[in-house]
Amino acid sequence: MGKQFKVALLRGDGIGPEISDEAVKVLRALEPKHDVAFRILEGDFGGAAYFKHGHSFPEATKELCDEADAIVKGPIGLSHEESKKIPVDEQPERGALLPLRRRYNTFANFRPVYLPAELAHFSPLKPHVVEGGIDFMMIRELVGGLYFGTKETGVNDQGKRYVDEHLEYDEDQIAAILHVGFKEAMGRKKVLHNVHKSNVLKSSVLWNEVLDEIAPQYPEVTVKHIIVDAAATALVLNPRQFDVMVMENMFGDILSDLGGGILGSLGLMPSACVGPDKAYYEPSHGSAPDIAGKGIANPYSMIGSIALMLDKSFGMPEAARQVWDAMRAVFGEGITTADLRDPEGKSTILTTAEFGDKVVEALG
Ligand code: IPM
Ligand code: MN
Repeated sequence: MGKQFKVALLRGDGIGPEISDEAVKVLRALEPKHDVAFRILEGDFGGAAYFKHGHSFPEATKELCDEADAIVKGPIGLSHEESKKIPVDEQPERGALLPLRRRYNTFANFRPVYLPAELAHFSPLKPHVVEGGIDFMMIRELVGGLYFGTKETGVNDQGKRYVDEHLEYDEDQIAAILHVGFKEAMGRKKVLHNVHKSNVLKSSVLWNEVLDEIAPQYPEVTVKHIIVDAAATALVLNPRQFDVMVMENMFGDILSDLGGGILGSLGLMPSACVGPDKAYYEPSHGSAPDIAGKGIANPYSMIGSIALMLDKSFGMPEAARQVWDAMRAVFGEGITTADLRDPEGKSTILTTAEFGDKVVEALG
């Protein structure tokens, strides 16, 4: 009997359930090939969980996540109208996702921005800009900054409603994520882009101080500093200059969506959220309620998240590589889902489930 892993599966909202089905298909296909068994523990999470249990991160789901070796999570979130039916603090982002990140202190978020050369036409950028493909890693701090700082709302002395929301980091949190960035750079091209806003934000001044202190531990890594707004422009004009980028929480939220944009679809953005004891895996995109249930969503980000899990949580880099290769092979046959642009209109558009089947087929 081979290895057994317990995987908590939180399907989430919107397109979450349907792209999760494809991820499960891939896991099942890998079992016999790698003599491994994945025990899938399903838990309610997100808006759907709120309507069912009155909480978007129910206790039972917490227990199941505690028990699992790793967690796979679909996107969560409701349409603007549906969200309004839920108290602000129970809305899936604040009520489920941020508590999940906090519970396992998943401070290191890996967001690969990757398009192999033969798929560069998916990018809306001009061919000469993306020639040779796009391949860099965005590392986002995930449990600090504005997202997790103290928040206060009320009415001030002048009778005006106000909000006071803090951006907080301590030096240990900054050092932890910078070490992740340096280590990732060591495993790649040894160039680390540090994204900050030290011309305005004191948090970035401290961030850069800490960076200067730990950089000598990585003498082989060349650090390049770039201000976050300039980084947005650079990502569009010349994304190929980047290999590893490291940044605080909100910068990473915004720039990683830009990463999806230059690939041609957020559907191409899987991610790994890694803490000291546990990691969870999720697409970087939202739940796309407008297309939910139509079977047209791209499951790549969910299947790619599985590949990241195999590699980072289960020590199965070979299986992970097979999953990436399989998806690449499917795209290589001229098959896509509806989100991906094909300027020549030559590709065959498949449904979510058909795409998953093709990936399983390509796994052999
Ligand atoms: C992401 C998402 C989340 C974030 C939302 C859903 C809270 O946009 O993972 O990037 O802002 O972190
Ligand atoms: Mn985001």
